[in-house]
Amino acid sequence: MLPVELYRGDDALRNDREGVLRRTWQFLGHETMLPQPGDYLADVIGGAPVVAVRKPDGALAAFHNVCRHRAGALVADGAGNCGEAFTCRYHGWKYALDGRLRNAVDFGSVPGFDPRQYGLFPIRVESWRGLVFVNLDAGAAPLADLIAPLAARWPDGQAAFPLVERRTHAIACNWKTYVENYLEGYHLPMVHPEFDGDVVVSDYWTEIEGEVVFSGAPARDASVYGGLWAWLWPNLGVNVYRHGYMMERMTAVGPAETRLDYFYFFDPAQTQALPEMLKFSDLVTAQDLQVCEEVQRNLEAGIYPGGVLSPKHETGVAWFQDRIARALDLPRPPRLAVVG
Ligand code: FES
Ligand SMILES: [Fe+2]
Repeated sequence: MLPVELYRGDDALRNDREGVLRRTWQFLGHETMLPQPGDYLADVIGGAPVVAVRKPDGALAAFHNVCRHRAGALVADGAGNCGEAFTCRYHGWKYALDGRLRNAVDFGSVPGFDPRQYGLFPIRVESWRGLVFVNLDAGAAPLADLIAPLAARWPDGQAAFPLVERRTHAIACNWKTYVENYLEGYHLPMVHPEFDGDVVVSDYWTEIEGEVVFSGAPARDASVYGGLWAWLWPNLGVNVYRHGYMMERMTAVGPAETRLDYFYFFDPAQTQALPEMLKFSDLVTAQDLQVCEEVQRNLEAGIYPGGVLSPKHETGVAWFQDRIARALDLPRPPRLAVVG
C-alpha cells in the first residue's frame, strides 16, 4: 500500500498535480463539442486552467487559459465560441486562435514592448477517434502510445456514436481513493449486488497492458453493461457497454474532493436501452460514492496504518500504486504478496 499521507492534505494534492496530473494525457471532451472555428472547451487540468479551440484551418490548438498581461482568464470554464480571437475578460487583450498576441488594446506606447513575446502558453492537444486529450507536459510521449492497447481491444464500430448525455458527480474523497475502487472487482458482490444479474461477477478478470488496466466479466443475455472496462493512466475510465460507451473523467478538485464527469456516447438505433443504462449507471455511482467516502473518512481518522492487497483481485490497484510511487519518486510500496 502507499503511505496514507498520500491520500490526504494539500501537500499530497500538490504533489499529485505536479508529478502526475500535469504530466499525463487528460481527457477534455469530444471533437463534436467544438465543431466550428472559434469553438472552445475550457476546463481545469491538474489545477491549471486550459482551453482548446478550433482554428480556422479546422485543426485544434490548446493553451493555458491565462492572459500574458496580468493573468486574466481568456474565457470562462465550459464551452463557447470566441469568434476570430480570444478577448481577455480582464482588460481586453486580443489573441489570434494560434496564440499570437494580436492587440494589447489601448495599452499605451512602451519602448521595447514586443507583442511577439507575449503569446499564449501553448499546450499539447491530440485526438483519437474524436476524443480530445490535452497534456501540460511538452515532452510527453504521444497520446497514441497510451491508447495503443485500448485501440487493439476496442472495435471502432462505436466511434461514430454521438454524445447523448453528460453527468457530473461530486465525491468527498481523494481522487486516488476513487481510482483504486474503480480498478478492482473485489467489491462487486458487497457493493453492487445488482451487477451479478448483468454480468458473471465470479468470472471477473483484470489485465494490464502498457498503462491501461482492463477488466471485465462475461455478459449475461440481457446485459446493458456488456462487461468491458478500461482505465487509462492516471484518471480516465472507459466503460464499454453493449450499445455505447461512457468516458469517465476523475478530476482531483481538492485533497478529499473528486469530481466525476461522465460523457455517454450511445448507438442512435438503440436509444430505447438508454434510460435503463443511465439508471443502472447512477445506481452504481451512488454505491461507489458511499464506500469511497467512508474509506476517505477512515484514511483521515489516523488509526489506519496501510493495509494489504489481494493478489487475486487487486492487481490493478497494485499496478496503480506502483505507478504513483514511480511518478512521485517514492520507493515501491511494500505488500504481502508481490503481484504484477
Ligand atoms: S489580464 Fe488580460 S488583458 Fe489584462
Ligand atoms: Fe464499484
